[in-house]
Amino acid sequence: PTDDSHETFVGSIDQGTTSTRFLIFNRSGEPVASHQIEFKQYYPQSGWHEHDPLEIISSVEQCIEGAVKDLENQGHAKASIKAVGITNQRETTVVWNHETGEPLYNAIVWTDTRTQALVRKLKQRLGADKLQELCGLPLSTYPSVGKLLWLLANEPKVKDAYEKGNLAFGTIDSWLVYRLNGGPNKNVFVSDPTNASRTMFMNLRTLDYDDQLIDFFRLDPRKVHFPKITRSSDREAYGRLESGVLKGVPITGCLGDQSAALVGQKGFSPGLAKNTYGTGCFLLYNVGEKPVFSSHGLLGTVAYDFGEGNRMYALEGSIAVAGSSVKFLVDNWGFVESSSRISQLASTVEDNGGVVFVTAFSGLFAPYWIDDARGTIYGITAYTNRGHVARATLEATCFQTKAILNAMEKDSSRKLAALAVDGGMSNSDLTMQTQADLIQIPVLRPQMRETTALGAAIAAGLAVGVWESLDELKSVNVEGRTDFTPRMPEAKSREMFERWEKAVQMSRGWSA
Ligand code: G3P
Repeated sequence: PTDDSHETFVGSIDQGTTSTRFLIFNRSGEPVASHQIEFKQYYPQSGWHEHDPLEIISSVEQCIEGAVKDLENQGHAKASIKAVGITNQRETTVVWNHETGEPLYNAIVWTDTRTQALVRKLKQRLGADKLQELCGLPLSTYPSVGKLLWLLANEPKVKDAYEKGNLAFGTIDSWLVYRLNGGPNKNVFVSDPTNASRTMFMNLRTLDYDDQLIDFFRLDPRKVHFPKITRSSDREAYGRLESGVLKGVPITGCLGDQSAALVGQKGFSPGLAKNTYGTGCFLLYNVGEKPVFSSHGLLGTVAYDFGEGNRMYALEGSIAVAGSSVKFLVDNWGFVESSSRISQLASTVEDNGGVVFVTAFSGLFAPYWIDDARGTIYGITAYTNRGHVARATLEATCFQTKAILNAMEKDSSRKLAALAVDGGMSNSDLTMQTQADLIQIPVLRPQMRETTALGAAIAAGLAVGVWESLDELKSVNVEGRTDFTPRMPEAKSREMFERWEKAVQMSRGWSA
């Protein structure tokens, strides 16, 4: 293939909870080539969820190879890929030997609830109530910190590395950057603020590690190697790919997946929000250049850090279970043969028939934060069929989104005008219409829904001049949007939500 010098591309590694993808975007923000691999999920005990860190690396390498082949088959040269961005599942915790680069344990995934008892104890510790004012997150099983503390308390190999000063701790972004740069040889060990803000070690105002936080968790900072926190779009800090078909291409963008989706949806101004229905579902609301600390169960987090004058914060509503509940109906209960058919099954009934499904498989996250909630189906009668349960499953995420928007209104004293959506479940018209009905504002679904990968490509492309400014991206992905406007009377919608809230209360108190 010859290098067509008019075409410039940016690659995007999207390392999610259940699959890894590599997408290649052109300057118009259109995906032109891609490759995806699903990798193994380990559930060694109830509530535990792990990934193999080496399998994650090899899935990334294979996806890059597959997508580049796809690009070359279209007649483009791989040399036209100017930079690579990374976006990833957040909070998932990896520990490795700082000298050898070898993992010391499986990655503990963000959904994992093994730290429940530990978190309960931490909540009793003096100063626990001050943590959120520093880092934006409440204590729960969700952030990385509990996973690291659990490993130190339960895995002798991890404790041993800590005592010897050899322990490297990172989220998936830093693990990927480190290994893709060749590991201990180059020792590129960095993370961006959108990822670091999910650990509970980072101060949300300074965007740097905070001794008060590290002290609270009784960690000795001389014994753990933390990645250096660097902005999300940078020409140098993330190094370059050390091997494979794109050897030598610089990594110049890094964003946690939810921040990346906000960027991909062009949520660059305060007041804009997006909701991504992936494995979980995450609503991010741009609050501007200063952090907002929630008093209503939301998280304060970083939207993106593209350098001085271009740094934005967000309020976040995190839902632990969204697409994974659909997968559960398919894999565990055999409802239909594939996830894409659930919406069809839900459409066979007119409404939920009185059924409410609180899909609290990892406890309940925002805005409730009930660690010991468990999945609860409420309202079953002899009339209930699979269609009702399918519908109630889809509605669960919509109800939680409604609860998050209520909290967001209280925190920001503003009502959202419309909600931009993306992610797997947003493909379902039924679900998106239900969402609009329950929140009583329009739901806007773009035609090109690879917004997470696009966000990382934007971060990477900005650093190397593929795009000069965010303004240039305004025209990207505006054609072909579908708008879902509320059709349900408000009173009916309120009644449904009240039933949901009642069911949430019944899902409490089920820890083993
Ligand atoms: O915080 C977890 C989140 O980053 C995972 O996203 O898309 O895999 O549900 P997703």
